[in-house]
Order: sequence, then C-alpha cells, then structure tokens
Amino acid sequence: MTSIAVTGGAGLIGSYLVDQLVSAGHNVVVVDDFSKGRLENLSQVAGKCEVREGNLEDKGFATEALAGAETVYHLASRAYGVGYSAAHHLDMLEHNERITNNVLQAVRHAGVKNLMVTSSSCVHRDDASDTVPELPLFDGEPEMVNWGYGWAKRFLEQKAVIYAAETGINLTIVRPFNIYGERYNWMGEYSQAIPMLVKRVLDGNDPVVIWGSGNQSRNYLHARDCATVMRRLVEIGYTTGPVNIGLRETVTMNQLVALICKAGGLSPKIEHDLTKPEGRFVKSSDETLLRTVLPEFQPSVSLEDGMKLMVGWYRATFGE
Ligand SMILES: NC(=O)c1ccc[n+]([C@@H]2O[C@H](COP(=O)([O-])OP(=O)(O)OC[C@H]3O[C@@H](n4cnc5c(N)ncnc54)[C@H](O)[C@@H]3O)[C@@H](O)[C@H]2O)c1
Repeated sequence: MTSIAVTGGAGLIGSYLVDQLVSAGHNVVVVDDFSKGRLENLSQVAGKCEVREGNLEDKGFATEALAGAETVYHLASRAYGVGYSAAHHLDMLEHNERITNNVLQAVRHAGVKNLMVTSSSCVHRDDASDTVPELPLFDGEPEMVNWGYGWAKRFLEQKAVIYAAETGINLTIVRPFNIYGERYNWMGEYSQAIPMLVKRVLDGNDPVVIWGSGNQSRNYLHARDCATVMRRLVEIGYTTGPVNIGLRETVTMNQLVALICKAGGLSPKIEHDLTKPEGRFVKSSDETLLRTVLPEFQPSVSLEDGMKLMVGWYRATFGE
C-alpha cells in the first residue's frame, strides 16, 4: 500500500484519520510536534505506523518528515479555542503561515501525488448566511474572533491552489466547522467550546451560567466522522474545490448543556448572563456539496452519544 503522511496525526482529528488509514492497510507516517497532539491518541495504532516528531516550522524537518510520501493529509496547525485565537491573531497567522510554506515546499520536494489541506469554516465572513455554503475565499474579512487564524487558512487554501495548478498535484481542500471528541487535549482557558462547557458542568457548578440567551446555535460533528470525510474525499479523488465538513442541523447552547447534564447525570440550575456576547446567532454548515460528493456519508456518533464520550474524557482528564 502507498505511503501516507498525516501532519498533525497525533491530534484530535488526525489521530482518527491515522486509525482509519492504518486499518485500511496503508503505510502511515505521523508527523507531529506533540505541542497539542498526544501519543495516547495513537494507542490503537502503536507499532503499526511510524512517528516523526518535530516542528513543521522548521523547513529542514518538514522536508525530511514528508520524504517518501505519495499522499499527504495536512492537518497540523495551531488550533486553540477562541480565547487564544481572539487574543493572538498575529501569532496564529505567523505560526500557521510558516507551517504552510514549509509543508508546500516539502510536498513539492517529495513529489507527492495527492494533497489534502485542512482549512476551516473560519475563512467565512461573520455576516455570511446562517447556513454557510462554500463561499469564495476572499470576500471581506474572515470570522473576526479568528481573524489571524482565518487569514492563515485563506492563505493556505490559496497557496495550495496555485501550487496544484503549477504542479498538477491532486488537491483536496476541506473546511471543517465545529469538531469535537474525547481525544481533545485540554488547554485550560484556551480550550475549545465543548470541552470548556463539559468541564464547567461536570466540575459541579450550580448554577451553570451560559453566555447570552443560550438560544445561539451551532452544528457539531465528532472528530471520527470528520476524519472519515477527509479520507473518503481523497480516496475518491475529489479535487474540484473546498468542501464543508459539518452538518446543517444545529443545537442551541441550552440544548447542548442539557445533553451534557444528562450524560453526566447532573441537574444544575441554568442561568443566562445576558451581558456576555453570544457570537453569531446561528452558524451552520450547508452540507449540500458534502451530500452530493459523498452520498453514503452518515455520521457515526450522535451528539447525545458524543456528550457521553466527553463525560469519559472529563473523567480521564481530571480524574473524577
Ligand atoms: N477542531 C475543530 O473544530 C476544527 C475546525 C476547523 C478546522 N480545524 C483544523 O483541523 C486541523 C486539526 O485540528 P484538531 O482539532 O485535530 O486540532 P489538534 O490541535 O488536536 O491537532 C493539530 C495537531 O497539529 C500538531 N501541530 C501543531 N503545530 C505543529 C507544528 N508546528 N509542527 C508539527 N505539528 C504541529 C499538534 O500537536 C496537534 O497534534 C487543524 O488544521 C485545525 O485548524 C479544526
């Protein structure tokens, strides 16, 4: 089987992708600096894939790490919650730009045939429609709480497109929405929304305070399902343009907290702090293209089951 490199392969989404690729019999190389990824995430594939540990900001390492790969799934990125992103735009932009430049040069050097790059729904502007289709890349500013990160993802997409046009490489671009899972590495105040909320509830806060009305809604997809979409898009050779990875169906913050409480067997009072921002009222993914390209795709983890898995994550992480 072909040699496949997964950058960020020890991370939340990447590790599920590695599981699937190894199960399919591929020779997989995980490229990660373990700044957020964890070796435990690779426990199912221990001894069955190669791990090349290093920082992709280092051009020499990037070139060595991707040597010999026929296919590269590029997921490595500084990807923290909005608490970090909103306060560190330049850092997010520069870190991710350095990785982009090194990875694209290393891919060229290695003569890679297939490349998947991981963009984000954050490339879309804040005033986009509630259910966002695959919009053109450079229309206004990206999502402003993720300003630097959003621009880095826009540059990643655009550079990869130009690179593919010049080299003929098969390029797949994905734009995940809100992805979660029990392999999340807790980052304290810089963590993503679902782990933060799960911790807030399971720490035993009573009341649990929700920012804003609690009626703001989002869509969430488990990381295993996100990985499945990434793998399938590359397997079928989908190279026509960016594909959203997310669902149209949304839940409100109130519903999400209720699911977490149910999964944790808790029933705290819920209060709303209306002085706090709630962000966009609705952010949902137009899944038309995803359904057209991968009609067989069905999420394998419901949000209710996902919250039970997150309770397990909480107990394993904080030792309750
Ligand atoms: N989780 C989401 O909701 C979401 C949404 C949209 C896009 N994305 C994108 O999907 C990709 C994977 O995200 P994730 O949620 O699995 O995050 P993650 O942080 O768990 O995974 C990223 C991995 O990249 C590694 N990494 C970071 N900087 C590196 C560097 N300089 N050199 C080598 N490795 C490095 C980290 O150690 C980590 O294992 C990222 O590109 C992220 O921007 C994620």
